[in-house]
Amino acid sequence: MNVLSLFDGMSCGQQALERAGIKVDNYFASEIDQYAIKVTMDNYPDTIQLGDIHEINAKDLPKIDLLLGGSPCQSFSSFGDQSGFNGKSGLFYEYVRLLNEVKPTCFLLENVNMKKEWRDIISQELGVEPIAINSNLVSAQNRDRLYWTNIKFDMPKDKGILLKDILTEKEFREIPKCFYKNWGNQQRINKGINWVGNQKANCLTTKNCHTNQYLLNEDKSLCRLLTADEFEKLQTVIPGYTKSVSDTERFRMLGNGWTVDVIAHIFKNLKHNTMEELSFDQLIINVHDWANDKGLIKPEFIKSQFVKTIEELGEAASAISKNKPDELIDGLGDTFVTLIILTMQCGLTPQEALNSAWNEIKHRKGKTTNGVFIKE
Ligand SMILES: C[S@@+](CC[C@H](N)C(=O)[O-])C[C@H]1O[C@@H](n2cnc3c(N)ncnc32)[C@H](O)[C@@H]1O
Repeated sequence: MNVLSLFDGMSCGQQALERAGIKVDNYFASEIDQYAIKVTMDNYPDTIQLGDIHEINAKDLPKIDLLLGGSPCQSFSSFGDQSGFNGKSGLFYEYVRLLNEVKPTCFLLENVNMKKEWRDIISQELGVEPIAINSNLVSAQNRDRLYWTNIKFDMPKDKGILLKDILTEKEFREIPKCFYKNWGNQQRINKGINWVGNQKANCLTTKNCHTNQYLLNEDKSLCRLLTADEFEKLQTVIPGYTKSVSDTERFRMLGNGWTVDVIAHIFKNLKHNTMEELSFDQLIINVHDWANDKGLIKPEFIKSQFVKTIEELGEAASAISKNKPDELIDGLGDTFVTLIILTMQCGLTPQEALNSAWNEIKHRKGKTTNGVFIKE
C-alpha cells in the first residue's frame, strides 16, 4: 500500500505499520524538523521525504491508500497557549486539504484532548467522531489521546505494563529546589513528579526539565531524570530507535511522538478495512473469470486441482496448529478458491454443489460429541 504521513515526526507511523505486519510499497513523509527526519532516515532509508506540508500537491503522488497525521497540538493543549486553530494547530487544515485532494481509502488523525468546540470542528471536517485511547493500556505511560479514523477497531486490551517494568538501574540525586512548594511552614514535593512506586508514568511532554521527566526514589528523598531509553520504552518505540541524535532531541521527539503500540493496534485492522467488499456470488464470478483466463477450467485438470485443494487445506491446518490468525485467513481463502475451480472443472457451479449439500443436511438429526456432529 502507499502511505502519506503528514507531520511525520520520527515516523512512529512507519514503526506501527511494520509492527502490524502491513506491507508498504511507498511511504511518503511530510516533516520539516531536521532531527526527526534524520532519525527516520537512519531507520527507514526508503522513506520519501516531501518536506513542508504547504508544498505538497496531491497531483504529484500516486494513489494513496492510507493518510496519517498527528497535527501540531501546541495551541490545543492545556500546556500550550490555547489559541486553537489560530495558532500552530491551525495546520490541521492542511491535513484536511490533503485528505480532500488525495481521497485515501483509510485515514487517521491523532491529537491531544482539547476543548469540545475544537474537537467538534475537527469531527465535522473529517466526518467521524474521535475515539479516546489512553496509552496506559499498552504501555507504562498515561497518555490520553484522541484518534479520528475510518478504520474500525476494538479498544486495545490492557497489557498491564507498569512503570517499574521499564525502569533501568540509575543513580538518584538530590531533588532540585524548584520541585518543592510551600505548604504552610513546611515544604512539600510537587505532586507532578513520577515516583518509582507509581503504576504508570505521567504523560511525556516535549518540555525539557518538566516535572514529568523526573522520577523520585522509593522514600521520595532523592530523584533522577528518566532516561531517553526509558522514554522510548514508555512510547513503545523500537529500542535505540532515536539513538543517533542528542538526548535533548530524543526527549523532545519522543514527547511529541506516538505510542507505537496504540497505532499498531489500530493498523492491525487495516487489511480488512482496505479490502473491497464483494458479494459471495460476485466473488465466485471473479474466481471463475480468473481461472478461465489461466486455462484451468478443464476436466483433465481435476486430479491436479484436487491435490492443490489438499495443499491449501494443509496450509490452513498449519495456521490452526501454530495459532496464526492471519495465515489462517489466507489458508481458508485459498482453499475456497481451489474448491470453486475444482467444482467448475467437474461441470458444476459452486452454488449447485452447496445447494445440494444444504438440502441434505438441513433436516438432519443427530448429536454433537466432542465438537463432531454425528448423524442418527
Ligand atoms: C505532534 S508532532 C508529530 C509527531 C509524529 N506523529 C511522530 O510520531 O513522531 C508534529 C510534527 O509536525 C511537524 N511540522 C510542523 N510544521 C510542519 C510543516 N509545515 N510541514 C510538515 N511538518 C510540520 C513538526 O516538526 C512535528 O514533528
